[in-house]
Amino acid sequence: MPAHLSVGDGAFTINAQTRIVAEGNARGLGMRLREYLGATGYKLPIATQPHGNAITIRFAKELAQLGEEGYTLTVNPKGVTIAASAPAGAFYGIQTLRQLLPTSIFQSRAKGIAWQIPSVRIEDHPRFSWRGMHLDVCRHFFPKSFIYKYLDLMALHKFNTFHFHLTEDQGWRIEIKKYPKLTDVGAWRKDKDSGATYGGFYTQQDIKDIVAYAANRHITVVPEIEMPGHSQAAIASYPELGNTGKQLPVLALWGVSQDVFNVEDSTIRFLQDVLTEIMRLFPGRFIHIGGDEVPKDQWHNSPRAQERMNALGLKNEDELQSWFIRQMDEFLASRNRRLIGWDEILEGGLAPGAAVMSWRGSAGGYAAAKAGHDVVMAPNTHTYFDYYQSRDRSHEPKAIGGYLPLETVYAFEPVPAGLSAAEAAHILGAQGQLWTEYIAAPEHLEYMAYPRACALAEVVWSPKNEDFADFSRRLQVHLKRLKDLDVNFRPLGGAESKIADGAKAGEPRHSLHELGG
Ligand code: ACM
Repeated sequence: MPAHLSVGDGAFTINAQTRIVAEGNARGLGMRLREYLGATGYKLPIATQPHGNAITIRFAKELAQLGEEGYTLTVNPKGVTIAASAPAGAFYGIQTLRQLLPTSIFQSRAKGIAWQIPSVRIEDHPRFSWRGMHLDVCRHFFPKSFIYKYLDLMALHKFNTFHFHLTEDQGWRIEIKKYPKLTDVGAWRKDKDSGATYGGFYTQQDIKDIVAYAANRHITVVPEIEMPGHSQAAIASYPELGNTGKQLPVLALWGVSQDVFNVEDSTIRFLQDVLTEIMRLFPGRFIHIGGDEVPKDQWHNSPRAQERMNALGLKNEDELQSWFIRQMDEFLASRNRRLIGWDEILEGGLAPGAAVMSWRGSAGGYAAAKAGHDVVMAPNTHTYFDYYQSRDRSHEPKAIGGYLPLETVYAFEPVPAGLSAAEAAHILGAQGQLWTEYIAAPEHLEYMAYPRACALAEVVWSPKNEDFADFSRRLQVHLKRLKDLDVNFRPLGGAESKIADGAKAGEPRHSLHELGG
């Protein structure tokens, strides 16, 4: 739902004579639009001069007050104009145009359709600058082709941030040239029961392809390299990174490993080397360093960690974690990047420039914003799309737990209550989480993500709207689009699931996600 919409009389009809007018550096956007209009069967010429019967994309400096992502879209029977001060805004105008066409525009080819666009005047801009979707490719691996589909769906919903969760206890999924064992060893685990090997990883070329594909859709990729916990796959690859020196396997159970990185200088250097390669691959400002769910027992019991703690004058293991994160923050900040981590990084003190991702409800986000940190809201209460979508679990594929129906997602208010306007300005936005312990296949992932991601898309883009019935009506139409895009969304009201259980790595020892929920 755009911020401002008024409906006029009549409609514009795309026909064989229609042109796309895109001057100068709008040409790439014109080509993208032509591709999106493929179902019409017209290969619309791209012109640079004004033309009647045209869809015009133009840049207009005077629209700068709508921000780089804002745009206007004007449709009347004579033509269509998308105007924006920057390419991102024009791109979102194009996404809105797709929504105004008959839903068959989302098919690869549709015959006998009058390609009418109703006369409207839209002025639109997003409520939040961080509109994200997360994906855990560690518990289960997803091929590059599916990542592309995920990004295409994000773009349609005007999401602009892809949080790529790349390392875990159960698998390391990104090639690091300096440390090849991270993927030679760390990308593969042995199933406890069958003994079968499960895994996969992205080469640096794959990552470059994904980052470029995302950039072409105005999506920034935020990589997450977990530390100091959720790191057993790395420790299995290089045992000297751990606290026990033991050769560990890549974890083949869900839950949280007790084995965490040690606090040696060599380990800090190792991780900074990894981040150096990460920064070369990911041009975005934010680098996610995890920081969640770090059991401190090994540090408590390790004479070397205790020695380190005392030498640094730290009172406890929370402060030691804080020190660890600070090593990364200083390293990233000196290279003009910003650290972001899960809300546990607040414990024991946080460097001023670091940003916080609030997952254990909204309390971390509230505290971080109060303390002047930028915040991304990712509370399990409203954005954990690995939770059940129905109270009746018998008709749903096995999930990690919880209960997060569409209505609750739609009711989500990203700005925690009780913040001043200045504090609320630290809330950059919000994102949906797809943890994949129980999600092994793309069609299952789509079932968990959609349509909850549609509700979140509106929460982070549109002015606040509490009318769930209105959203549901509009969603009925939108689901036709998702069907044409071959998305295995969960039907409204639910349905018998034909999705096989995704849990292959063994039963959970425990689930902090569920405890947190
Ligand atoms: C998390 O769910 N452990 C961030």
